[in-house]
Amino acid sequence: MHSSIKIFQQGKTEVRGEEAMRELGRRIAGLLEAGDVLGLVGDLGAGKTRLVQGVLEGLGCGTKGSSPTFSIVHEHMGGRLPVAHFDFYRLQKEEEALQIGWDEYLNSGMVLLVEWADRFDGELMPMDTVWMRLERGEEEDVREVFLEANRCG
Ligand SMILES: Nc1ncnc2c1ncn2[C@@H]1O[C@H](COP(=O)(O)OP(=O)(O)OP(=O)(O)O)[C@@H](O)[C@H]1O
Ligand SMILES: [Mg+2]
Repeated sequence: MHSSIKIFQQGKTEVRGEEAMRELGRRIAGLLEAGDVLGLVGDLGAGKTRLVQGVLEGLGCGTKGSSPTFSIVHEHMGGRLPVAHFDFYRLQKEEEALQIGWDEYLNSGMVLLVEWADRFDGELMPMDTVWMRLERGEEEDVREVFLEANRCG
């Protein structure tokens, strides 16, 4: 994933309203390459799923990218790049990730979008994960998105 600096001046961007979060996702989508892994971190309601929806829109995936509430992974194959969208919030144990084929996904060349990627101290995530942290701003509809290029390395 190149040129992310252009989107995140000084590693941080302020996003006002959920449509703007989707727009940020669409812009990120334009930078994605096969095999990229995005680790999304932030509290409940921080906007992780809105960002994912924008990425899916930007890639032309066609489907809405609902929060994978009752399953840990949703695949989206119809766009510019194949995508798997995960929600690790629902994982009780690391082994459950392996049961749904996490290792295979890591080698699949798909773009992996992972909500709650910091689950288990981020140990499931590969070294080259692009980490994004979403935080609530001062106002109700404001979020701050921080790009943390290499959190584990
Ligand atoms: N600037 C903003 N960006 C994104 N969402 C916003 C913003 N302002 C308000 N919201 C609201 O915050 C909520 C974000 O929900 P979303 O499902 O994206 O969060 P999430 O981080 O995926 O939470 P969860 O951990 O429960 O999956 C939505 O209700 C949305 O309307
Ligand atoms: Mg979510």
